[in-house]
Amino acid sequence: MLPPIIAPSILSADFSKLAEETRAVDAAGADWIHLDVMDGHFVPNITFGPPVVKALRPHTQKYFDVHLMIAPADPYLAAFAEAGADGITVHAEAGPHIHRSLQTIRDLGKRAGIAINPGTPAAMVEPVLDLADLVLVMTVNPGFGGQSFLKSCMESVARVRAMVAGRDIRIQVDGGIDPETVKAASRAGADTFVAGNAIFSGGPGAYAERIAAIRDGAEGASGRDLSC
Ligand code: DX5
Ligand code: ZN
Repeated sequence: MLPPIIAPSILSADFSKLAEETRAVDAAGADWIHLDVMDGHFVPNITFGPPVVKALRPHTQKYFDVHLMIAPADPYLAAFAEAGADGITVHAEAGPHIHRSLQTIRDLGKRAGIAINPGTPAAMVEPVLDLADLVLVMTVNPGFGGQSFLKSCMESVARVRAMVAGRDIRIQVDGGIDPETVKAASRAGADTFVAGNAIFSGGPGAYAERIAAIRDGAEGASGRDLSC
């Protein structure tokens, strides 16, 4: 298994000081910064677009993991790449041309991710795995931070882990991840963990401790029981 990556989602940060919050989680040990883009159409919430990604870019060297919850996504991929995304993840459900979306992200020189919602079969990702650097298995229905982790999604994580076999593809979970739920996700085969509420709800003084607790949970459980 690859070493775990912890990616705080700034969706749960204080939006009135996003740059400061980004610097704070960077200093607190975040591996990646997860940026949730929502359009009020694919998901019932609206967040931000490329200008905010661009505005945050000078504030950290960390990998920008841009999670697009927008449909269509293709017309905006170049703008997110130019804004400073390192990886761009598109939902399999967001349009009929996920193969083209992943190819476009790679052509832009970025790492390509495919996401699936809790109600989407894991098999959706199989035909395009060779075009993916990351598979995101949602562990809540996307749209909001602070929702409860859906344990039923662990079956999809385990299926994706089996499909990926030895390939250099990260398996990410997103939604309701905390120091406890991360264990089940890690046991099922995830190696990349997004967490919003569990990190930001403690305030800046607790970010380092919260990130470390999630990392400890992931490392302690990693590969222990792939049958989950
Ligand atoms: C949900 C977003 C998540 C969200 C996770 O639609 O994709 O990244 O911020 O937040 P928590 O960890 O609070 O569930
Ligand atoms: Zn996300």
